Amino acid sequence: MKNNPTSPYRRNLIQQIINKINAKSYLEIGLGSGEVFKGVDCAEKYGVDPQYGNFEYDKGAKCTIKPTHQMTSDEFFKQNKKTFDVIFIDGMHEAEYTERDINNSISCLNEGGYIICHDMNPLTKESQIVPRIQNYWHGDVWKAWVNIRQSNPNISMCVIPVDCGLGIIQKGSQKLLDIKGLDTTYENLEKHREEWLNLISLEDFLNKNELRRHILREEIDTKILVVVFGCLSRSLNITYKNHIEKIFSILDVNSINYSTCYINNKVTEIDGVKVSDDFKNKIQPDYFLEFSQYFIDSQILKYHPNYKTLYFRKPPASGRDYVEVFGRSPFRNSFIETSCSEFMDSKKDHFTHCLAFCSDHWFEKDFQLNWLKSNSLIVSDQNPAQGYTNGFYFGNINDVSKLMNSFYSLRQTATLDYEHIIKTNAEQNSIKVKEEHYRFLKIRANGEHAYQKSPRLFPKISHILNDYHKKTR
Ligand SMILES: C[S@@+](CC[C@H](N)C(=O)[O-])C[C@H]1O[C@@H](n2cnc3c(N)ncnc32)[C@H](O)[C@@H]1O
Repeated sequence: MKNNPTSPYRRNLIQQIINKINAKSYLEIGLGSGEVFKGVDCAEKYGVDPQYGNFEYDKGAKCTIKPTHQMTSDEFFKQNKKTFDVIFIDGMHEAEYTERDINNSISCLNEGGYIICHDMNPLTKESQIVPRIQNYWHGDVWKAWVNIRQSNPNISMCVIPVDCGLGIIQKGSQKLLDIKGLDTTYENLEKHREEWLNLISLEDFLNKNELRRHILREEIDTKILVVVFGCLSRSLNITYKNHIEKIFSILDVNSINYSTCYINNKVTEIDGVKVSDDFKNKIQPDYFLEFSQYFIDSQILKYHPNYKTLYFRKPPASGRDYVEVFGRSPFRNSFIETSCSEFMDSKKDHFTHCLAFCSDHWFEKDFQLNWLKSNSLIVSDQNPAQGYTNGFYFGNINDVSKLMNSFYSLRQTATLDYEHIIKTNAEQNSIKVKEEHYRFLKIRANGEHAYQKSPRLFPKISHILNDYHKKTR
């Protein structure tokens, strides 16, 4: 069983476990960027990491959140008197440290508690070599796992092959593993992976641990139509991995029903770059629609023959024709969004919600499950222009459809900029819209983000860029 190497399943799984056992205390060893620690909701949270503010340890990711205990895990356990319901081990990624972390954690685990260990199912030999030789790295923590599988009969251990391998430990019993004198080399792990790690599929784990019952009722009754729209050949090759990580994996791990529809504004050249249909090898949508640029433009001219004068309130700067500079793009956006809307209408009896986003978007944050309970339609706050963005919508399928249906009413609203068209649409249809801090980058066909040259916006998004560059290069 292979992992999905990029998905943040761990936080969702940890949260589901906390909800299920009504955990009161959570301990995380090794905080890194702190995304998981910050995202976990539990009455008492304790975070251990020696690196915050000093960076003297160069092994593993640097810690960017203030730990409640700024010390190594060995130091922590030496002085610790507390016990915990859920413990997540993700500190020093070398086997001997992890083995101590696991044993120490077992000693302070409450009855009925869970230990979750990250990176237990390395995918390649290189990614588990110590010392680290590449960025994508799990370390050899799996060896600690195999040792404990051979020596401690009083716990149960299994690895879920998602998110680099999530090792789950509970008090109980297990038949000791016998590796028959073999060395714990990567080659032997490859041959005996299922047995040595005790792999279990996510599906089976959720069922066996009755975790599904602890998923919110709203989530079970929900069926989402996910519509990804835009010039798919422009940036989807870059953004697809991010969409899996920030959106689809969250829906998957929470067992939320969804179907996908990709709607392509077909172009062969954009942003001065020739583009291809490569993206089609990646996606396996339930529905796929395509409109050629020629067809879209013919519709613009048919419904808005005076589009040049319609769109802009102010005349373009002297010597420049704004409409020529920016082409018909607002109208093209509007046409594609309206096509999404029409598709949603044709499917609205089968779905409760719709999540629609532009394929150019590279998201910084995860899809938030609490949006399922929101009475408002969620839009992103990203766009630096006024009004609502034209790139991300989540809510009741009827509302999303109404909000995105702007093309035929452009005659009335087109003197406003595009974001205002959406805002006006919301007001006219009495749709409550909530802007969420859900920033994203817009990616161009050449791989640059759209705000590369915007000094005004640059400082606001500089913290996202690091992540983007790490994950896309
Ligand atoms: C991979 S990061 C943790 C990521 C985080 N848990 C997450 O899920 O995103 C590893 C962290 O372990 C910390 N670390 C390194 N040595 C440690 C030790 N001996 N005890 C505890 N934490 C340690 C590093 O400073 C780094 O922040």
